[in-house]
Amino acid sequence: MIPIQIAKAADPVEALLEAGLRNLWYPICPSSFVQEQPVSLRRLGRKIALWRDARGTLHALEDHCPHRGAPLSQGVILGDRLACPYHGVQVRCDGVVTKVPGSPGCKLEGSRAALSFHVQERHGAVFLFNSDTHVDTPPPLLLPEELEGAEWSNFLCYVEWKGDHRYVADNVMDPMHGTFLHKQSHSMAEGESEAQFQIRATDTGFVFEKTGQKGVNFDWTEWGSTNIHWMRLAIPYPKTGGPGGSFSIVGCYTPIGPNMTAVFFWRCRKVSGWLRDTWRFLYRNRLEARHWHVLEQDRVMLEAMEPDANQREHLYAHDVGIVRLRRQMKQLAKEQLEAQAAAKVAA
Ligand code: FES
Ligand SMILES: [Fe+2]
Repeated sequence: MIPIQIAKAADPVEALLEAGLRNLWYPICPSSFVQEQPVSLRRLGRKIALWRDARGTLHALEDHCPHRGAPLSQGVILGDRLACPYHGVQVRCDGVVTKVPGSPGCKLEGSRAALSFHVQERHGAVFLFNSDTHVDTPPPLLLPEELEGAEWSNFLCYVEWKGDHRYVADNVMDPMHGTFLHKQSHSMAEGESEAQFQIRATDTGFVFEKTGQKGVNFDWTEWGSTNIHWMRLAIPYPKTGGPGGSFSIVGCYTPIGPNMTAVFFWRCRKVSGWLRDTWRFLYRNRLEARHWHVLEQDRVMLEAMEPDANQREHLYAHDVGIVRLRRQMKQLAKEQLEAQAAAKVAA
């Protein structure tokens, strides 16, 4: 096991980007991680306790008992509450302490002393709204059509990589690596090894795309912000890849710690009816292993990069998408820090 530290870059903008922007939804783990017992996860610069009540509904609190900080995740599930193992304090899923067995009627009872999070399960993953304070109603979690559309089908692929989450995003915002790193793969062998790119604004973000080649290789990437940050791309498939046209990938990359990322890729195909079953069978039996092979190539590259690799770069025209994405993230981090400072002054 690698020791996980909480993000702590000296520059506040860097520190916020390293830990993950606030007030956004993030996938934090596959649904299957949370079974009968509470679990504790490090994500987004936080330690989070997750559990299911008797109906299977998921709840999340900061894994820190408001009494003296013991891990609530090691306590006992009492429906929508956790009882801390240390002195039995009971905390409800909305952060309110409902019972202090050692000192009934004390001030802690009835107070919202713990940090709670909204969680939702969608497409095989647990999504958490990353807020610093209690939020009554979070903004809606809006996911791309490839996940939400009835005529689509997807498989979640989850991995944890030893690298900063921003390197994972950079990798996806870099279509040209398909032509080189993945050139032996069954779907990325075609097309030019030189390309011109352009950035096109969309309603929710932007597309970084080749100007002279489309539908041949990994030719474009989109970044979107819909109360969650996601990226997507499509790779044309040979006939042997079964029904559904291009193979689409939707990705989200959630920081675990400064040098560790929870990587979510949903592999999607536009298939319905019996074609869906055909594709799902084909995927499991033939295609999945190939995809893992391609993903391994990405993992090896990313994990071998030094943590300060992005401080010593010589970018060229193919990297304009990366520059744009980094600039955008920095701007968002600055805005969040300014809003936080203004709220403090107002308070
Ligand atoms: S630390 Fe949790 S009850 Fe005391
Ligand atoms: Fe790749």
